[in-house]
Amino acid sequence: MKVLLLGAGGFIGVNLTERLLRDGVHDVTAVDIEEEKIDHLIKDPDSKLTYLHLDISKDEEQVDALVRDTDIVVDLVAVANPSLYVESPFEVYDLNYTQNMKVVDQCRKYKKRLIQFSTCEVYGITAAKAAEQFGLSSKTHPCPFAEDETPLIMGPVKNHRWIYACAKQLLERVLDALWKTEGFQFSVIRPFNFVGPRIDYLPSECGGGNPRVFSHFMDALLYGNQPIKLVDGGEAYRAYTYIDDAVDCMVRIIEDKGGNCEGQIFNIGTPENELTIAELANKMCDMFDEKFRQEGDPPRPEIVSISGEEFYGKGYEDCDRRIADITKARTLLGWEPEHDLDSVIYNTMKYFVDEHRKKQAAGQVAVAAGV
Ligand code: NAD
Ligand code: UGA
Repeated sequence: MKVLLLGAGGFIGVNLTERLLRDGVHDVTAVDIEEEKIDHLIKDPDSKLTYLHLDISKDEEQVDALVRDTDIVVDLVAVANPSLYVESPFEVYDLNYTQNMKVVDQCRKYKKRLIQFSTCEVYGITAAKAAEQFGLSSKTHPCPFAEDETPLIMGPVKNHRWIYACAKQLLERVLDALWKTEGFQFSVIRPFNFVGPRIDYLPSECGGGNPRVFSHFMDALLYGNQPIKLVDGGEAYRAYTYIDDAVDCMVRIIEDKGGNCEGQIFNIGTPENELTIAELANKMCDMFDEKFRQEGDPPRPEIVSISGEEFYGKGYEDCDRRIADITKARTLLGWEPEHDLDSVIYNTMKYFVDEHRKKQAAGQVAVAAGV
């Protein structure tokens, strides 16, 4: 099968590309506008990857031709970083909905199957939080969240955090409408906090920025330039999934051997791997001390609390809790995540530490202050 991956140079994309190349079953064409994470595959002389530097917003003709010539399209392109949801909300809507709709239309034109990446953020907040904030009843809102049953609850428009989830939700709704009205072939994936190699950059190596939480905490552990900051005390819960487990589920959806993925939305998550962000911070500090600490590393970082508004800007609101109900992936795909919480965190930390040690050995890391 010919597989076209759009946004293949991102965290999920590069891990999926690596797996598909390793399997060697399908022809893989990868598209992105950033090569940093996928460079090792592009430059590998033995790799069978076809890579094209194309922007889905601007290079419509070339992308159109790729869609025409493929069997299946996997669309991962998005702004997927919460700091940008409040900083550049229109850009988030434009890329995550309008530009992605161009890909939908290209798939419709050539009758190609589309696997669209959405997000667990479409579920928004739990009814328990809504009840507390808006005086609603929390009796009926379940968590774990189920794809076809759980209502999607979001905060006010002024809280731009929700524009990401809203744009993704609208895209999902359009896809389902097209399936119903014209039999358009699609599957949607809702990832629940994947972590693993190549997730995000470290701010100390890139002159700042605001990546996802794991990179912030690793930055504090490896560079000691900042304390670990817990947004609003780190009371929010997340359930982490190791990227290899997630990729395994994605491959099952791409291959659809049981022929039952059409028109389906799939949660991909690991319900058992839940903890609060404050617990994550302490666990990472303990694990670093126990498994990775070397002479010359900065001291164990201080853990402080910071308000969401101060950390992200006005318009930030958090998802309080999100656990995937993965009954559908288990039943239709026979998929089961294999990594427990400790191995998810250990493997991801090991990736960052190994990269850091390589840089240290090459003299690319300044010795931590005060050590
Ligand atoms: P990512 O930011 O690492 O990857 C997105 C990729 O899209 C980047 O490499 C980026 O360069 C590329 N891109 C952006 N604009 C483009 C354009 N105009 N043309 C071509 N490529 C462009 O994000 P990720 O974590 O790999 O997420 C992939 C998808 O999964 C996204 O749709 C995201 O919303 C969704 N998702 C991810 C997670 C997670 O746990 N990582 C969770 C929920 C949803
Ligand atoms: C992210 C992004 O929205 C998307 O990539 C994706 O849709 C989703 O994860 C996902 O992976 O499923 P979120 O989990 O809120 O959403 O993003 P993180 O930056 O990983 O934050 C997790 C939690 O840690 C939040 O409560 C945040 O406030 C907190 N946080 C973040 C801190 O306490 N300290 C930090 O330094 C950074």
